Amino acid sequence: MGSSFHIYCIFKKECNRLIYQDEVSLNYSSLNSTAVIMSVVNLTRTTTFTCKCQNEPEPCGTDIVPGYQPAVPHNLTCIQEGEFGSVNCTWKTGWETHVKTTSHLWVQGALPVSYESVAVHDGTRSALFAVSGTQSNFSVWIHTSNSLGSANSTVHNFTLNEIVKPLSPNISKVECSSRQCQLYPVNSQSTELVEIRYEDKQGSWNTVSYNNTNLTSWTVRSLNPYNQYMFEVRWKLGLTRGLWSEWTQIEGVTDEEVEITVG
Ligand SMILES: *[C@@H]1O[C@H](CO)[C@@H](O)[C@H](O)[C@H]1NC(C)=O
Ligand SMILES: *[C@@H]1O[C@H](CO)[C@@H](O)[C@H](O)[C@H]1NC(C)=O
Ligand SMILES: *[C@@H]1O[C@H](CO)[C@@H](O)[C@H](O)[C@H]1NC(C)=O
Ligand SMILES: *[C@@H]1O[C@H](CO)[C@@H](O)[C@H](O)[C@H]1NC(C)=O
Ligand SMILES: *[C@@H]1O[C@H](CO)[C@@H](O)[C@H](O)[C@H]1NC(C)=O
Ligand SMILES: *[C@@H]1O[C@H](CO)[C@@H](O)[C@H](O)[C@H]1NC(C)=O
Ligand SMILES: *[C@@H]1O[C@H](CO)[C@@H](O)[C@H](O)[C@H]1NC(C)=O
Repeated sequence: MGSSFHIYCIFKKECNRLIYQDEVSLNYSSLNSTAVIMSVVNLTRTTTFTCKCQNEPEPCGTDIVPGYQPAVPHNLTCIQEGEFGSVNCTWKTGWETHVKTTSHLWVQGALPVSYESVAVHDGTRSALFAVSGTQSNFSVWIHTSNSLGSANSTVHNFTLNEIVKPLSPNISKVECSSRQCQLYPVNSQSTELVEIRYEDKQGSWNTVSYNNTNLTSWTVRSLNPYNQYMFEVRWKLGLTRGLWSEWTQIEGVTDEEVEITVG
């Protein structure tokens, strides 16, 4: 990209020579009776150069595609999506190369295996690999290449315990009385930490946490009667294990205050 260079055209016979850059006639200098030279300065886009003899149908030409060699991939991170899910690695590619560039995620196992990347959004790519058997320590890196060069990221080492992110909680129902709500998860077996947050009338957030919840429901107390709440719930497999899940949102409405009549 941005290169300056010379293009030579050597003709089979003497003729009236015509040179074009993208169909625009180009100035050239004559080397001898059958060869010309032209200089190209700061080429920044795909360009077609063509040479032909006047009145001859057959041109000769070349397309030049300017680009860059790939940058070193960086910010490689991996997350295991669910306790038994695949590992999703994402990274940034650096500058735009303007030419076809491929990236592969390499995973060191018994043998290194590579996985083709997909574009996530501008400058970010990802690749997914399935976790098999008992392996829990991994070394991964990115190899990226195009016709102008190649680059490797640094090696990223992790264990599944560090990167496991449970799927967000599935709440089957919310039961409320006037002052509290109970949230029923579909399955809380393998998660150890739970966080529930909600916004109160004053607009401030309250957070309730639970440790080791082999509970069939979680109770949120000290709510106001006859009020609508949007609860947000997330969980984590262990105190020091893995990452928080995404938040799950679920709504609850508290009852009106019950009037106690003393007869
Ligand atoms: C080609 O060369 C002629 C004479 O040197 C000059 O007048 C003209 O501007 C040049 N054309 C281009 C496109 O550079
Ligand atoms: C003209 O120059 C070209 C390039 O240097 C060379 O290959 C060719 O043989 C020359 N032709 C003649 C007739 O001198
Ligand atoms: C090359 O061309 C690009 C785009 O036309 C321009 O931005 C850049 O300044 C030029 N560079 C040089 C060294 O002329
Ligand atoms: C990418 O990594 C650099 C340093 O390695 C860091 O400063 C930056 O915040 C990271 N960017 C993102 C979007 O993670
Ligand atoms: C991997 O993670 C990225 C970034 O969060 C996401 O955009 C992409 O869809 C994920 N890939 C798969 C196959 O889930
Ligand atoms: C980059 O990674 C590829 C694929 O794993 C490997 O074959 C190559 O030797 C690496 N190159 C460098 C310079 O580390
Ligand atoms: C959970 O346990 C950890 C360590 O024992 C403690 O630091 C934390 O405060 C506990 N959280 C709750 C909500 O009980």
